[in-house]
Amino acid sequence: MSKTIFVSNRLPVTISRSGGRLEYAPSIGGLATGLKSVHEEGESLWVGWCGLPEETLTEREKEKIDRELRDKYHNIPVFLSQEDIDDYYYGFCNRTIWPMFHYFTDEIVYLHPLWQAYRKVNREFFERLGDIIEDGDTIWVHDYQLMLLPQMIREKFPDTSIGFFLHIPFPSYELFRLLPWREEILHGLLGADLIGFHTYDYVRHFLSSVRRILGFEHNLGYLHVGNRMVKADVFPMGIDYDRYHAAHGKRSVQKEKQEVLKKAQGSKLVLSVDRLDYTKGIPARIRAFSELLRSNPQYREKVTMILIVAPSRTEVETYSELLREIEELVGNTNGEHGTIGWMPVWFFYRSFGFESLVAFYSAADVLLVTPLRDGMNLVAKEYVAARADEGGMLVLSETAGAASELGEAVIVNANNIPEVASGLKTALEMPENEKVSRNKVMHKRLRHYNVEFWAGDFLKKLNEVKEKQDYSSLIKVNRRTLEKIVRAKQAAGKRLFLLDYDGTMTGFRGKPEEAKPDRTVTGLLEKFIADDKNTLVIISGRDRDTLQEWFGSLPINLIAGHGMWIRETKGEWKRLELLSNEWKETIRPILEMHTARTPGSFIEEKSYSLAWHYRRCEPELAAVRVNELKDALEDMTSNLNIGLLLGNKVIEIKDTTVNKSRAASIWLNAEEWDFIFAAGDDWTDEDMFNVLPEDAWSVKVGSGISEARFRVDSPDDIRTILKALAERP
Ligand code: UDP
Ligand code: G6P
Repeated sequence: MSKTIFVSNRLPVTISRSGGRLEYAPSIGGLATGLKSVHEEGESLWVGWCGLPEETLTEREKEKIDRELRDKYHNIPVFLSQEDIDDYYYGFCNRTIWPMFHYFTDEIVYLHPLWQAYRKVNREFFERLGDIIEDGDTIWVHDYQLMLLPQMIREKFPDTSIGFFLHIPFPSYELFRLLPWREEILHGLLGADLIGFHTYDYVRHFLSSVRRILGFEHNLGYLHVGNRMVKADVFPMGIDYDRYHAAHGKRSVQKEKQEVLKKAQGSKLVLSVDRLDYTKGIPARIRAFSELLRSNPQYREKVTMILIVAPSRTEVETYSELLREIEELVGNTNGEHGTIGWMPVWFFYRSFGFESLVAFYSAADVLLVTPLRDGMNLVAKEYVAARADEGGMLVLSETAGAASELGEAVIVNANNIPEVASGLKTALEMPENEKVSRNKVMHKRLRHYNVEFWAGDFLKKLNEVKEKQDYSSLIKVNRRTLEKIVRAKQAAGKRLFLLDYDGTMTGFRGKPEEAKPDRTVTGLLEKFIADDKNTLVIISGRDRDTLQEWFGSLPINLIAGHGMWIRETKGEWKRLELLSNEWKETIRPILEMHTARTPGSFIEEKSYSLAWHYRRCEPELAAVRVNELKDALEDMTSNLNIGLLLGNKVIEIKDTTVNKSRAASIWLNAEEWDFIFAAGDDWTDEDMFNVLPEDAWSVKVGSGISEARFRVDSPDDIRTILKALAERP
């Protein structure tokens, strides 16, 4: 039976040695805590590191760990040496990727040996997986430690479904481009079929890096990687809502909660819970609390902060320095504001189990979560869910991924200490009914978009992408298929031919004088129209004057400007839409600037669109400029009804209400056709393919994903097909 295999650097169980004995404890960190309940529910396996250096384990211990993890937890351990842990985990993962992806540029190191260790350990994970993967399995790789793994799996198991989810932010291209190994990382990720992120901003950043660095296009998050379709999408991770919500009622939790409240002696409680990490903004948070007490003396002895910091990555110097800074700030705050009977900050440098955390959550009047950057932040969601009374208030920084979903919280800028202090005051003084009504909305959302929903949604989407890929692996037209097409045509009474021109019937593009139809083409068209069972439509992006000049003398149907103008056989040209062209004034200067900077490129002005041609440019420069231009244009056009059409070596900007599907539909709906043949080569033709009935004979010219059923390599092949169709009545 096929199975799902989760892969992450850290397993949900971390093993440590205490005295001589091995101890198993639940891992902390959002990935492990969040994914754990999904893993426990289903039939999945989980492959990851168990937390100890391999050298410290005897062979017998390794076997025991292997067996126990497999039997009790369905976990499969990967054993890492101390050197791997130093160079890969503490090194490349947490001194290069982690600070870069969280915008901490001063902390980033670029060291080649660390990169090599990253590659090596990704390969070790791959080898471990190689023993487990079977046909039909779904592999779901998690997080920044394993970004090369999807591609490694893809090479050995090309048909496997591979998902990847990034639990941390994906940085803007401006930052990501600094990474010396940026291409390898992107190629590694693109080995997956579906790549998930917590927020839309991270998806945007990723797609822009792929475009700018690798030059791969995307269309609504679908990327064309060679002949494979890859999707990048948003899946905000949820929590196990019911588990947190129900825990409140447990007697043991209530008992712990009462103990906390008793110790607080009526003081209001502000809670803070994080792993030790500079991304979490812990020092600024303590300063904000101190600021609150300074500017609101009435709060002294009335408000206490519980500061929980769970140890993490202390081998990395920045982390140990951070711990010292926190200790100092806690000391200063307690020294400045404390009294004989009251300590303003209770500091715990250790991790707590589920029930204790829920007891803290339900005792706290406010949860203060102010990361400077955080992929999601599950603690914020857990707090809201754990409040069975729907009271309490969350103060959350806008730079946590969770802020996109928890807008009813008090939202602050974590770098603005007075703002955090005043947000804290707002939360402390908020009337009970307002808190309840704000929290109700968040509860509803968290209950619905829980972790099960998240995982189910991701895996469902992965399936869909796979199905789309199957559909899009087009059948190449060979002699046998050609014979079938001809026979179908011969058997049909009413036949419709929808033919794109540039790139489909001719290989020449660009200036009209070069692409003008030759005698072979016009001869072919004449043969077609000689048979009155045939209706022929040339459906082109060219302007109407050009089409008129080229084909005007023939009694055929013409569609110009992607559907802007139509001419039926020998009739008059008719305009389909009346549009305003004001948008051109905004877009033209951008094109002009790019033309000036890109020798060989030129602008073509059409009646209702602008096209930027770059086929005569030096390819490498063109690739860079095209990506820059697309970024600029996409930003400029997002609020207009204007779209970018990415043709072959041309970008066309036009009103999106005009497209080939509308124009093609006029003919498609005009008759009951017995046979429909359509051919095209680029994105504009996809609009036409999209509206064809399923049994139409649709042919895409060239490579790339398409909604067509068949594929040929070049316009020569299309001419061969057309010749056969024209000559065999
Ligand atoms: N956590 C825990 N014990 C602690 C502190 C934190 O189990 O003492 C858990 C917490 O419940 C949450 C996770 O660790 O599920 C932290 O996830 P989050 O997304 O907030 O941050 P991350 O650590 O992943 O950066
Ligand atoms: C974040 C990361 C996880 C990581 C966790 C704990 O949530 O996204 O990949 O597991 O922090 O960090 P650690 O280094 O202890 O695994």
